[in-house]
Amino acid sequence: MFNNYKQLIASKIKAPLSTAELESLITETADDAFGDYAFPCFKLARVMRMSPVQIAQKLAAEVELDEHIVKVEAVNGYLNFFVNRLELTWDIISDVFAARGLYGNSDIGAGKTVCIDYSSVNICKSFHIGHLSTTAIGSALYKIYTALGYNVVGINHLGDYGTQFGKMIVAFKLWGDREVAEREGVAELQRLYVKFHQEEPSNPQLTEQARAWFARIEKGDPEAQELFEFFKRVTLDEVMKIYRRLNVKFDSWNGESFFNDKMDKPLQMLRDKGLITESQGAQIVDLSEYGMPPCLLVKSDGSSLYATRDIAAAIWRKREYDFDKCLYVVAYQQNLHFKQFFKVLELAGFDWAKDLVHVAFGMVSLEDGAMSTRKGNVVLLKDVIDKAVAKAGEIIADKNPNLPNRDKVAEQVGVGAVLFSALESSRIKDIVFSYDRVLNFDGETSPYLQYTCARCNSILEKVGDYKASKVVGDYRALDDPETLRLVKLIGAFPQAVQDAAAKYEPSIISALLIDIAQAFNRFYIVRRVISDNLAEQNARLQVVDATASVLKRGLALLGIEAPDKM
Ligand code: ARG
Repeated sequence: MFNNYKQLIASKIKAPLSTAELESLITETADDAFGDYAFPCFKLARVMRMSPVQIAQKLAAEVELDEHIVKVEAVNGYLNFFVNRLELTWDIISDVFAARGLYGNSDIGAGKTVCIDYSSVNICKSFHIGHLSTTAIGSALYKIYTALGYNVVGINHLGDYGTQFGKMIVAFKLWGDREVAEREGVAELQRLYVKFHQEEPSNPQLTEQARAWFARIEKGDPEAQELFEFFKRVTLDEVMKIYRRLNVKFDSWNGESFFNDKMDKPLQMLRDKGLITESQGAQIVDLSEYGMPPCLLVKSDGSSLYATRDIAAAIWRKREYDFDKCLYVVAYQQNLHFKQFFKVLELAGFDWAKDLVHVAFGMVSLEDGAMSTRKGNVVLLKDVIDKAVAKAGEIIADKNPNLPNRDKVAEQVGVGAVLFSALESSRIKDIVFSYDRVLNFDGETSPYLQYTCARCNSILEKVGDYKASKVVGDYRALDDPETLRLVKLIGAFPQAVQDAAAKYEPSIISALLIDIAQAFNRFYIVRRVISDNLAEQNARLQVVDATASVLKRGLALLGIEAPDKM
């Protein structure tokens, strides 16, 4: 029933508009005192030649009430409708239970494919806090689209191509050691790379050697290839540990180097279409007409660029996956790059260029001023997670010293706090990361959501299996403002999941979960859940149960686990 209230209300308004038009004007009220749904009469003033106030009064008098729509009021040019609130409450709660832990899932994406390019780490480079947002947002979108029935392809477009790998080989052969690299990981590779740059000015031969090695990588020389694969493995071993902790997964690891032999055809095609011009020996696509600098595709020495690979990758992905959308979850610093190569593909006549979306996000910095990208001052994501987990452990030890599985819960809370910091507000905003803020159990944080969820569980556990009790819940006990507010927010969850997907904005879910948790805590303070009246108690326990279920599901879509106990 509950999903059809708007439709039902529209059918009861006797105004000169189609039912569909009427329905589209109906909104949910912000304040329950003014009913549950409102219809503004302002648009009708011209056609009906009356003031909105008069129209509202006239239409209100004509509405036929029934057992679903129980009251209508005309207020300041609005028609305010009151639905059967117990019915609404019960419909939402039964929807949650019927979904068996997967509330919000749907099949609106059935038959459609979405590619999500996210995290996309760079080989031989550290995985730093600058990668947090792409990883958290991309992974959340992966889970959200999957829940909506889409076929999702998660792509880690590895940064595994470039002249720096020639330098790495030279440095490694001169000063490196396999055992040390295995043990120390990327930190050791970075040390060698820095040493190369320190030595280079006084030893120009190094530059030559690096160039030669890079050429050997490109030619597929076995020794060069083997060393490159070694660096790649050392880097990925480290990165995989973090992905495992964050519960992040990929279906494809085809990165930049995968396209080494896949650029000639696209380039030839662009030439054939007359899009490429020569400029000082380089090959470019002139985009001045679109207010952009040229897109550089081949350097004067014949080598390809980041954009060349992205063009080849997009064409390859379209052919391989036939995507309906291809998302690139990448920082806004790369805005121009995406605009440029999307434009080139559009000019080349690919109508699917419109389905490429740059899902941009802001920068992360730490409270103490440490930036994500500045050289020599990188803050490793692993260190941030470790520190958050350690702090979460201290808080838990303090709050609940006898908690079983304390380490596991600390990990779930710490990891959740870090992930949520990148998912809590609209993605384009810059973030200043603060441990105290993200771990505040009373703030608008992941620990707060987890804690509320655990609280629901402990209430349910205290009373035993309420569903097995012979006493049927008395839903009249749910007729109060606090329950209504909470249940309506729960009822908004499925739409929030769809909006999050449509706007590539997991924060829509985050914000709703915070509202739900706050509404629950208010409900729990004001309404007595545990009571002598078992029928009332059982009805309220269902609200608690549904709250736990939706919080857990929402957190899962954000990639965050909800511990049973906290
Ligand atoms: N590896 C790149 C970086 O760290 C991000 C790659 C994003 N994906 C893409 N298809 N360009 O900046």
